[in-house]
Amino acid sequence: MENKRPSWTSKYAFIITTIGSAVGLGNIWRFPYVMGQNGGAVFLAVYILIISTICFIPLLNELYIGNSTKKECIGAYESINPKLGFLGALNPLTGVLIASFYVVVGGWIINYIFRSILSYKITDYGEYFISFIQQPFYSCFLTILFLFICIFFTARGVKKGIEAANKFLMPLLAVLLIFLVINSLRLPNADIGLEFMFKPDFSKLNSHLLLSALGQAFFTLSVGMGALLTYGSYIKEDKNLVKSVYTIILSDTAFALLAGVMIFPAVFSFNMEPNSGAGLVFVTLPKIFSQIPYGHLISFAFFILLFSAAVTSAISIIECPCATLIEQLKISRVKACIILFFIISLIAIPATLSFGNLENIKIFGKTIFDTLDFLTSNIMLPMNTLILCLISGWYLKIKGYNLLNNKISGLFFDVGLKYIVPIALAGLIFMGLR
Ligand code: PFF
Repeated sequence: MENKRPSWTSKYAFIITTIGSAVGLGNIWRFPYVMGQNGGAVFLAVYILIISTICFIPLLNELYIGNSTKKECIGAYESINPKLGFLGALNPLTGVLIASFYVVVGGWIINYIFRSILSYKITDYGEYFISFIQQPFYSCFLTILFLFICIFFTARGVKKGIEAANKFLMPLLAVLLIFLVINSLRLPNADIGLEFMFKPDFSKLNSHLLLSALGQAFFTLSVGMGALLTYGSYIKEDKNLVKSVYTIILSDTAFALLAGVMIFPAVFSFNMEPNSGAGLVFVTLPKIFSQIPYGHLISFAFFILLFSAAVTSAISIIECPCATLIEQLKISRVKACIILFFIISLIAIPATLSFGNLENIKIFGKTIFDTLDFLTSNIMLPMNTLILCLISGWYLKIKGYNLLNNKISGLFFDVGLKYIVPIALAGLIFMGLR
């Protein structure tokens, strides 16, 4: 079985698929609204500080463990110590849970693509959004359609499916983003939006902002659920992982910044609120699109962009449990994908319905969708990363110098892996549980 493991065709394929995993709803949907809610530029300043200093540590660590063990999550943890398999299993489990709410938002995107093509008139965008996500059959159909598209690419395999999808969708995403940024910057009063993003007011700094920036940074880089471990295990020989890690972080940050530059000038140009939360992309932006020339075309381009970002990330989320099923149960990829399609649907359908028929079902005061989001983003992702950092730093005693070939950054890696990142993650989990 082991020598039949798939691998990337080239280093470019590895980098583009990993960037595809990182750049997702986290960059284009979540990042702008979290920044909008946390005072704009001051959030950005803290976020950049975090992402350019400590984030490379868990990212490099996860890719390194995948690349050196050449196994999926359970196998990788077991090869470190046979008793650790159950901790490895938390990763694909997290993947299944994240996929189950990610595909719900993916379904909403498909609806807005349809709507842009049909370009029918809407009078109240807020009301429209609420009413369509409450329609049980239609919204479940959209969720399943999005899941099916992602499973389809995963089932086609690492080279023909995952690589091929990323090689097509990621350049498309970049071109559309640049087109939309130029468009946004040409709107009247675009500079007010840029000021909101780039002129920090440090009096707004607080501990909640710090932890939000930390949570956003880890989520957007895809660390903590074995997606990177699995992608790292498909690298043929030991490539220069450090260079790849910097490329991934730089690209992910560039995409998030460009998403902000695409959204905020438009929001301020139309006198709208930057802090409308999750509805920023699904309510505020469509409202703006309806007021600009060729708005339906711009709207179509934007939602195709969001779709491309969401699909390439969702594929990486699904690939982690898929690889585990294939290698642990020794079944074919297609069989593993069919099993995952049913398991994820089983959780994603109640999550979709939790905006309508099932809205009264609450788990600790949260709807099913919110519980999945909260449990994975605030607890499971940081916990899995914490566990892997502790294993690498304290049990395997990985030395930064061997990975980075530089004394100073090697030492920073060692201290980060053993102390700084675990403390930051424990803070995140604590904040989540409060
Ligand atoms: N990084 C993705 C995003 O920004 O949307 C989300 C994600 C993908 C999280 C893969 C975790 C993961 F393993």
